[in-house]
Amino acid sequence: MSNILVSSPGKVILFGEHAVVYGYPAVVTAVHRTLQISMEYDKKKAKSFFHTLFKNVSDYSVVDLMNLINETDNAHSVLHVHSQIPLGCGMGSSAACAASLSALVMGVAQLKFSREKINELAFLIEKRMHGNPSGVDNTIVCFGGLLQFLRKGKKVEMKRIIHAKKFAHLWIVNTGVPTESTAEMVSMVKEKYIHDSKHTELSFQKIGAISESFSKHIQNEKDGEYWYLLIQENEQLLESLGVVSEKTKKFIRTIEKNMGAAKISGAGGVESASGVVLVYHADEEKFHHMMKKSSFEYFPLVQNNTGIEVYET
Ligand code: PMV
Repeated sequence: MSNILVSSPGKVILFGEHAVVYGYPAVVTAVHRTLQISMEYDKKKAKSFFHTLFKNVSDYSVVDLMNLINETDNAHSVLHVHSQIPLGCGMGSSAACAASLSALVMGVAQLKFSREKINELAFLIEKRMHGNPSGVDNTIVCFGGLLQFLRKGKKVEMKRIIHAKKFAHLWIVNTGVPTESTAEMVSMVKEKYIHDSKHTELSFQKIGAISESFSKHIQNEKDGEYWYLLIQENEQLLESLGVVSEKTKKFIRTIEKNMGAAKISGAGGVESASGVVLVYHADEEKFHHMMKKSSFEYFPLVQNNTGIEVYET
């Protein structure tokens, strides 16, 4: 028997969520937390089933694809899924799952590994779930690193941002799973856009300018001040789009009062939780002290540079 293990990183959008759906740039990083899917299989016998499945992968949702693989007895065992990425919190768990499944089917079908093809399939699977995604999530989990991402209609522009230093003073705080799905948050913003196109478009433009400014100056600027200003400005614009809950705003105001900056990362949420929040805080001790008073899980932001990986034995 052979084994296949696929590992996909999670992601954090640093700047540009929601505006990216309307053709403005976002900056996104892959993170060290991964989702892994593995399976044992008979190389010769499983090939034809997975070869056929590969042609139709994008006809299924993640759940249907998993059920189909698990329920069909075709010289392979069931899938084992292990994830360090918090589910449904804006850290790319669904994109990581869609990309991993596409890569696994590709591998067992004995097709040549192609990040581009995996990305294409993961995007189609994501579309089934989220309606009108920009594709930023599937792209970053496939390619890894730090990217500036832009979608104009069907055309995607992806610029790799090379930075010499490791991220410092950046944290991910998990405020919990939002009541609303990404699709619901995206359509909430669309409603706003329909009712007040002028102001909403202006907010998108300003968000896009933040992403551009970050990509241009990451190498030169004094770290702290820069992160602080951009995060705070992006958060204000996201709040004006109406994607941050009162509970999360309260948490972010506390961070700000204590000399930090924070913004939601991902689609957000308004009823209760808003998913993960990106925090910049230069004083580590003070930040830990502050977090002791909150019940939220938190961890440092560490970049993943590899993107999706497949191991076969
Ligand atoms: O699914 P999330 O929470 O990672 O949000 C994705 C980012 C959005 O800009 C809100 C949607 C998109 O497709 O780009």
